Amino acid sequence: MSVGKAIEQAPCLQSRGPECIHHPDRHLNSGAMVKTRIVLGIESSCDETGVALVRFDDLSMPVLLAHALHSQIDMHQAYGGVVPELASRDHIRRVLPLTQQVMEHSGCTLADIDVVAFTRGPGLAGALLVGAGVACAMAASLGKPVLGVHHLEGHLLSPFLSADPPQFPFVALLVSGGHTQLMRVDAVGQYQLLGETIDDAAGEAFDKSAKLLGLGYPGGPALSALAQRGNPTAFKLPRPLLHSGNLDFSFAGLKTAVLVQGKNCAQASGCNIERLPADVKADLAAATQAAIVDVLVKKSMAALQATDLKRLVVAGGVGANRLLRDQLDAACLHRGVRVHYPELNLCTDNGAMIAMAAALRLQSGRQQPSLRYAFDVRPRWPLESLDT
Ligand code: KG4
Ligand code: ZN
Repeated sequence: MSVGKAIEQAPCLQSRGPECIHHPDRHLNSGAMVKTRIVLGIESSCDETGVALVRFDDLSMPVLLAHALHSQIDMHQAYGGVVPELASRDHIRRVLPLTQQVMEHSGCTLADIDVVAFTRGPGLAGALLVGAGVACAMAASLGKPVLGVHHLEGHLLSPFLSADPPQFPFVALLVSGGHTQLMRVDAVGQYQLLGETIDDAAGEAFDKSAKLLGLGYPGGPALSALAQRGNPTAFKLPRPLLHSGNLDFSFAGLKTAVLVQGKNCAQASGCNIERLPADVKADLAAATQAAIVDVLVKKSMAALQATDLKRLVVAGGVGANRLLRDQLDAACLHRGVRVHYPELNLCTDNGAMIAMAAALRLQSGRQQPSLRYAFDVRPRWPLESLDT
């Protein structure tokens, strides 16, 4: 369980009068009145329970006050992947203690919350229902409105939590365990899909290849750690759809190629693929990572060229990958493109991105929070259909 650094940790003084630092609308130096609000964000779409508090007003970038996260990796590891029913039950256990931690670290009380936001989808239905149910019950008990957030919009806007936030418009490379998309982003809520995977996501390619090599779950970090010791040119793996002329991706064939080449080597060594010699395994991991990263970088550059934009935002769990960051940095530098990433600890699922996305939607006037506490979730929910 980790508690994120509270960016502002001073105590809430609201109860003592007008000088509440979390609601500074009451006494700005300029004398102008700017209405500030605090949003609580709850993420529970898959195997991480995240809770965060963000403060925002109508003028400036929203500020993360505190966030707390519990990863279920240890629990699911024994099964080699996420077990949905276990995930839901664990969210139930974690969400209130995490909320309490966030309140303590921010110095806020529940009464300071103006809006309760939760991940409405996409994700595991049971897991989403936990976050939605808790958010709506909490909001109802406080008499405050709720707002359902799109998980991918949370990832997409997570670089706004970084010290170097992007400016619109930009091309976004969204690379998570379930999605691989290139989007043109003109403003909050204005998303145009440029291309996406036609089968496996990039994160899935990491995870499935890692599983073949017996590296456990989640595969991305494990495979990339092993790849550091390997030679990426030792195996020749395909770069699917690299020259397709569009911005779509396909990673399912890569996993099959890893399986075939791994099996061939294993046969030659008289073992099974999981027991390949350590150096061969490292080479195969390095070649796999290189193939995935190569495609992601080249397609991102093609998207920048097609849109004539000079800004790239990378978001989602695979955005934590070191090789991907290094190669994108180099390619963007070469083309005079600014590239933005979320902080490393906010690449994978977290509550801060949900609170941030809610704050940005409210700030932009795209969405009003609702006092209706009957909730639904959307396990499948294309980002392009967000505002329709
Ligand atoms: O965004 P995320 O936390 O969850 C989804 O919304 O899917 O992404 C999880 C994915 C997993 O597939 C995981 O293996 C991958 O991100 N991932 C990585 C790294 N860290 C996480 N893949 C490659 N390199 C990493 N360092
Ligand atoms: Zn995610």
